[in-house]
Amino acid sequence: MDKLPSHIREARKARPSPIFKLFAIAIAASVASLYYLTLQWTDSTSFNIPINAAEILQKCQSFDIPPGPPQDFHLRAQSDRFQAGTQATLLKNATVWTGRVSGYEIIQGDILLDMGLIKAIGHVEQSVLDTYTDLMTIDIAGAWVTPGIVDMHSHLGVDSSPSLNGASDTNSLKGLVLPWLRSLDALNTHDDAYRLSISGGVTTSVVLPGSADAIGGQAFPIKLRPTVERTPSSMLLEPPYSLNGSYVDPALPPRWRQMKHACGENPSRVYAGTRMDTIWAFRQGYDTARTIKQSQDAYCAKALSGQWNNLGPYPESLQWEALIDVLRGRVKIHNHCYEAVDLDGIVRLSNEFKFPIAAFHHAHETYLVPNLIKKAYGRTPAVALFATNGRYKREAYRGSEFAPRILADNDLRVVMKSDHPVLNSRHLVYEAQQAHYYGLPHNLALAAITSTPATVIGLDHRIGFLSTGYDADVIVWDSHPLALGATPKQVYIDGIAQIEEPFSIDKGTALQHVPDTPNFDKEAEETLKYDGLPPLEPHNASSHFVIFTNVGSIFARRGHTIREVFTSMDAKLGTVIVENGTIVCMGTCSTTSASLASGMRVDLEGGSISPALLSYGSPLGLENINQEPSTNDGNVFDPLSGAVPGLLGGDGSVIRAVDGLLYSTRDALLAYRAGVTTGVVAPTSRGFLSGLSTAFNTGVVHKLKKGAIVQDVTALHVAVGSSAVSTSTQIAALRRLLFGGGQGDLASSFSKVTKGIMPLVVQVQSADIMASLIRLKSQVESHYRNSIQMTFSGASEAHLLAKEIADAKVGVIITSPRPFPATWESKRILPSHPLTKESAISHLLSHNVKVGMGTEEQWNARNLRFDVAWASLDANDMISRGEALALASVNLETLLGIKAANTDLVATRGGSILSFEGKIVSIISPGRGVVDLL
Ligand SMILES: *[C@@H]1O[C@H](CO)[C@@H](O)[C@H](O)[C@H]1NC(C)=O
Ligand SMILES: *[C@@H]1O[C@H](CO)[C@@H](O)[C@H](O)[C@H]1NC(C)=O
Ligand SMILES: *[C@@H]1O[C@H](CO)[C@@H](O)[C@H](O)[C@H]1NC(C)=O
Ligand SMILES: *[C@@H]1O[C@H](CO)[C@@H](O)[C@H](O)[C@H]1NC(C)=O
Repeated sequence: MDKLPSHIREARKARPSPIFKLFAIAIAASVASLYYLTLQWTDSTSFNIPINAAEILQKCQSFDIPPGPPQDFHLRAQSDRFQAGTQATLLKNATVWTGRVSGYEIIQGDILLDMGLIKAIGHVEQSVLDTYTDLMTIDIAGAWVTPGIVDMHSHLGVDSSPSLNGASDTNSLKGLVLPWLRSLDALNTHDDAYRLSISGGVTTSVVLPGSADAIGGQAFPIKLRPTVERTPSSMLLEPPYSLNGSYVDPALPPRWRQMKHACGENPSRVYAGTRMDTIWAFRQGYDTARTIKQSQDAYCAKALSGQWNNLGPYPESLQWEALIDVLRGRVKIHNHCYEAVDLDGIVRLSNEFKFPIAAFHHAHETYLVPNLIKKAYGRTPAVALFATNGRYKREAYRGSEFAPRILADNDLRVVMKSDHPVLNSRHLVYEAQQAHYYGLPHNLALAAITSTPATVIGLDHRIGFLSTGYDADVIVWDSHPLALGATPKQVYIDGIAQIEEPFSIDKGTALQHVPDTPNFDKEAEETLKYDGLPPLEPHNASSHFVIFTNVGSIFARRGHTIREVFTSMDAKLGTVIVENGTIVCMGTCSTTSASLASGMRVDLEGGSISPALLSYGSPLGLENINQEPSTNDGNVFDPLSGAVPGLLGGDGSVIRAVDGLLYSTRDALLAYRAGVTTGVVAPTSRGFLSGLSTAFNTGVVHKLKKGAIVQDVTALHVAVGSSAVSTSTQIAALRRLLFGGGQGDLASSFSKVTKGIMPLVVQVQSADIMASLIRLKSQVESHYRNSIQMTFSGASEAHLLAKEIADAKVGVIITSPRPFPATWESKRILPSHPLTKESAISHLLSHNVKVGMGTEEQWNARNLRFDVAWASLDANDMISRGEALALASVNLETLLGIKAANTDLVATRGGSILSFEGKIVSIISPGRGVVDLL
């Protein structure tokens, strides 16, 4: 035995399991014979023993060791990621959600962070504290503390922010099956998003290759903090030992690897193929890997029993080793897969080749086929979802906000993920909040961004929970993390405080609890009944009178503002009587008169009545399914990048969005049901000139219904910024048009702008371009001697020019209320707390700029109520609730040229329209003379 190579001896010491002993005996036998044969070498040429036989034997025996941490992992005194010089920190008086006990455990006490680890939690003994001479002690006064957020689906660092041509590294287009690629090889350490995502509490992300390929490559969990080394490798969390060629103790169990798979539309689109081609590509790839694996296993069987005769070299394959590891059960497969058709294909694949799938990602139809998911090979895959981002392509058309709770009802593990930068991972906690709002239990909602993903990726021995010996990745929150607008006050990664000078807001006591969310059981049931497409059309109340009882608060329009006109003391909730869609009594009303007897009663349980909201900024009203051109109005011709047909009037044409309106789109109906009863949309353009916007009702069935068109034409829209022609060219065109150089209908639209009758809405992000536009505006105004109405839309960098914008009387519509540096032109954002004291919106308002809030993508129109509520929380006490509602109603009307006020009202049950407690139950429409019940 002494003749065994020393590393094999080590192996025996470290893992004295019975199975290992059997292997060890086999190894000993074959290595002994190896030595014997080597000695005999000169006498015999019939044996052909590889020179690395000992290594091969180690490899063969290791195949049966399951991946995971070494047995003594929890005895570690220091994290492998500990950064020398990090001061120990004691967080005193924390309310700790630990992630343990199925997400139900809450500990009141202290947390000691040292050596990159959680050293103690709860009551920390004085004798322990006495051992520290240099302990940073922070009293967090009962604040909520959770484990750092784990984002299981991110392209952070490979899909660049800001987006640049030199950094388009997410997808390789070299073939459908590329298991040998590694996201690590593209991981940019300088991405703008690291700091932002950390400020939202994300401490670990799994960086996945994109979904262009069936097998896109290997993925890597990283910690987001900057390292002293400044290298991609130093960001990795427990990378496979083989990664850097260092010596590895063969006794150690292997570390989990991660790999991306994708099925459905993306691979089909990229390779001009079909679903059938993609599944065949998978099978072909897996067959190749299986063939090599079988030859390895056959080789090992012989080698381990000493039959080296003519065995030849070990059948290694650098190209296929990762996929072979999948077949050996050592890789967590992250499978981008949406529809039943694709999920079924992958479940078959997993059973055909016998490999487990860690999680289906996006997975918009998994809630319709929970039993199919359970038929996958091995442990049932988890499901990683967006909360409300859906319907952007056919695969996502049946996506449901109730998917997380339905999956949980079926005992499937739910993860919420960002797909960063698709969603800004900084706000991953918001995905958990929304899942909770729509019915996912609070313990599972928090687990869905911490302990569940940590477990799914095989790192639950060190992240995703708060427990002694775990990595010191900790978030201190300003409110309960499931409360709307919850924001970290500080984030620790490996025990290091990440935010140098944090700004935080005192959120008060109301937001320190799990929100008491509405009941959506019936809606979830309907969703299943209708195979994911429940009818969304509203139904009007059949009685002339509708009596709303137990009304907690009433907000009403007062000119161009919104005021809270009624607030109940708890004991005296109000009543609102509506006749034929119009409020006839409000506050204290007698409900005993005979005419009311037949009226319908709606108990609001302390909820609110408030003005309806208006959506602007997305193609809502012109598109059904964003990525399906046949379902949409389409793009206009852009006169700056090509000729406009003469039939249209050539350069003198201007397109009206009203002509392309599509009613009853699911996104519009969902918006209506969320209190957004009006949409304003401009023609869809890829270039400079968009056209004339229109205002429409989101809840009616077609354009000829009463009230369907709110206003035919509202404003003239152009976009200035990065595109096929230079920005200066676009401004030259705008100047020419404003100074009367245009022709036809376009010239008359511009003359309405220069007369000040119609607003000019300019889609623009960069402060430099806004400055050029402000100069142009002043030139135009002095030329015509009257003021024109100009609105900047998008306006990510507007805060840099807040004073100048105010002085120029330009209005601003922020379409990304939680800003993100998606492009160079929107790079200079004001990120708000904890990074900055102010938000872009509060900064602009403090300079008396007229501010509206828009939305960039149409699925998000339904979330406008939460966006404005969040903005008002972010602005601290600067924005009242009425002012928050104004951002997405009266202010937008002014900025977009809407003349007739939208008088629709929204009734919510249980809480206000601005809260996670409120459920929208009715739309009151004086204009249409109806009360819709939802
Ligand atoms: C913890 O903080 C809460 C809230 O500030 C306070 O009421 C409580 O007294 C504190 N407890 C301790 C032990 O300091
Ligand atoms: C390789 O990685 C291990 C940790 O997995 C580390 O200890 C070692 O220093 C690394 N070697 C090199 C050359 O980077
Ligand atoms: C309200 O609904 C009823 C059917 O329930 C319908 O007959 C009536 O015309 C509707 N009223 C309005 C104003 O749309
Ligand atoms: C409400 O509508 C009904 C039926 O159309 C009508 O009889 C009644 O007069 C209306 N009430 C008012 C105040 O207009």
